[in-house]
Amino acid sequence: MTARIAEPADWAEIVALRTRVFVDEQGVPPEIEQDDADATAVHGVSRDAGGAVVATGRLLLRDDGTAAIGRMATDAAARGRGHGAAVLAVLQDEALRRGAAAVELHAQVTARGFYERAGYSAVGPEYLEAGIAHLTMRRVLRPPGRV
Ligand SMILES: CC(C)(COP(=O)(O)OP(=O)(O)OC[C@H]1O[C@@H](n2cnc3c(N)ncnc32)[C@H](O)[C@@H]1OP(=O)(O)O)[C@@H](O)C(=O)NCCC(=O)NCCS
Repeated sequence: MTARIAEPADWAEIVALRTRVFVDEQGVPPEIEQDDADATAVHGVSRDAGGAVVATGRLLLRDDGTAAIGRMATDAAARGRGHGAAVLAVLQDEALRRGAAAVELHAQVTARGFYERAGYSAVGPEYLEAGIAHLTMRRVLRPPGRV
């Protein structure tokens, strides 16, 4: 397994994977699955032993010094093998490198345990996004005052 920040050449595989997971599997409308934020986001990928992209996610840096991670998706056949956690770790490292002190994300309720294992805590009540139950989760990347 190799997780790293994506290159432009990875984009087609990222779109195909996100379409399989979010549109085909979860029923998210294709017209909202890709959005304007994709152009400025930092994307992460993890590949299987054969070199195929089997997990992805994206990082968005906000002006207030926090970062948002989203569109985390692992191919159904590759789940439970650490690919998602590896992508999350790469995106968190990149957020730290770019000066973010914390990450906030909108987690699908069914993925809550995945994010809790990675150090995230739920903030506030559940809500619907794209017709799917979500909750906001947050993780501090470094303590205040430390550079
Ligand atoms: C959520 C998702 C990205 C996890 O990816 P993955 O590659 O299977 O996750 P990993 O194998 O890296 O799991 C890391 C840890 O989280 C745990 N975990 C994974 N999915 C979990 C879940 N849904 N609930 C509870 N724990 C989970 C694993 O057991 C593992 O625990 P361990 O470190 O104790 O072994 C994947 O299930 C997925 O794509 N789901 C559909 C899309 C989705 O819901 N995306 C999230 C949008 S917010």
